[in-house]
Amino acid sequence: MNVDLNSKIPNNVGLADDRKLQKALEAWQPNFIEWWMDMGPDGFQTDEIFLRTAVSVEPSGWAHFEHVKMPDYRWGIFLTPAEQDRMIGFGDHIGDKAWDKVPGDWRTELRRIIVTQGDTEPASVEQQRQLGKSAPSLYDLRNLFQVNVEEGRHLWAMVYLLHKYFGRDGREEAEDLLVRRSGHVDNPRILGAFNEPISDWLSFYCFTMFTDRDGKYQLGALAESGFTPLASSCQFMLTEEAHHMFVGETGIRRIVQRTVELMKEAPDGDVSTAGGIPLELVQRYVNRWFSVSMDLFGGEDSSNAATYFAGGLKGRFREGSDKKITDHVALEGHYGAFAPGPDGTPVSKEIQLRRAMNLVLRDGYEVDCMRGVNTWNRILKKAGVDFEFTLPHYRFHRTQGLWTSCNYDPQGNPVDDATWEKRKDEWLPSEADEAYIASLMQPCYEPGKIAGWIAPPKHGINHQGFDFEYVKFDADDPYVRAR
Ligand SMILES: [Fe+2]
Ligand SMILES: [Fe+2]
Repeated sequence: MNVDLNSKIPNNVGLADDRKLQKALEAWQPNFIEWWMDMGPDGFQTDEIFLRTAVSVEPSGWAHFEHVKMPDYRWGIFLTPAEQDRMIGFGDHIGDKAWDKVPGDWRTELRRIIVTQGDTEPASVEQQRQLGKSAPSLYDLRNLFQVNVEEGRHLWAMVYLLHKYFGRDGREEAEDLLVRRSGHVDNPRILGAFNEPISDWLSFYCFTMFTDRDGKYQLGALAESGFTPLASSCQFMLTEEAHHMFVGETGIRRIVQRTVELMKEAPDGDVSTAGGIPLELVQRYVNRWFSVSMDLFGGEDSSNAATYFAGGLKGRFREGSDKKITDHVALEGHYGAFAPGPDGTPVSKEIQLRRAMNLVLRDGYEVDCMRGVNTWNRILKKAGVDFEFTLPHYRFHRTQGLWTSCNYDPQGNPVDDATWEKRKDEWLPSEADEAYIASLMQPCYEPGKIAGWIAPPKHGINHQGFDFEYVKFDADDPYVRAR
């Protein structure tokens, strides 16, 4: 696939050879920029940010780093080239030639999958739009904007599919992706977690740790799709997604590191007197964001999931390459699960394997989250601190799926309403927690300096040091002048 970096829309999909599509996307482009200016980062649009731009899909050198103003970022369309003679790898059509065009039978389902994925991308940019004003360092500010521009590119990836393969209704869906607004009363984003406000950096790190990781698993499952353009788009999005999760996982690790340092200094171990973030408070944020991200996987026993698998539209994570997966038809067999019995107590429930695909994906996600959490625990262990981070039980604080009719504590035991009311501030961020975190959110914009509640990173970006000028402020930026 040839990479065209010089046209209005950088791409490796041969856009110049498809005039009609090129024109349609070039007409969508100003609307995207308008959305970016309205709903992207509030301020900072004239500053020079040290950003990574995708310039190819070669694993060896796909990214280019330089200082650019965000509105000048080159949002492009890049697909990982598909293997020759690709075949559908699972479901009822297993072994058939993979689709280069939308199969008529699955048009509605594929459109819904693409729109749902596409909707999350601008949503997260909207959720994070105020965070620039309180970044703990220039390094973090740059990482925030990197995540934001790449979510914008992921939107482009999905809009390309809608325009190219779904005709008029695809174009209408692409317009709507710029019209819905995160948290809007009348016209919200499609999925719950993408309507939750992200107003502080602890929430941002939790979001990129847990919610972007849901994205990794969804994209990983769609990268198996029998519809090759979708598979190729998602494959390349995964490359960028890794950095987003890195930002979250290491962000919390750096908070833990700093808290441990402050615990040694604080006479009674109370780090809040020294402007640090107590470990119990971090755990409550983890509880919130892990549970809302679990909701994104959908129902545990799901006819949609079965349909998507049967149709060859959405597979399991690494369906094709995971050697542990041997049965790619999944017509037989069950997945062991639980469902609420009387009084909410769990009773075992066997779910037909195809109907359990959301749960299969979610269980893999949970293991991956735990791996990250363990890296935080290693810091605590090394420092001799008697505290261990955990993930709350999957039954805790759920608003989707089987476990919504009763309350559960973080260990997964059913609790009555009175107990929940009495104890919920132990388990989820309280108003006092949020007020305390808000009080810490002061920007620190001097190269090499960092806010007091978080440790600096071990390494900078692209071989630069931590003291590198990751953001060069424009002297005319009203925010700079206000400071
Ligand atoms: Fe994304
Ligand atoms: Fe992301």
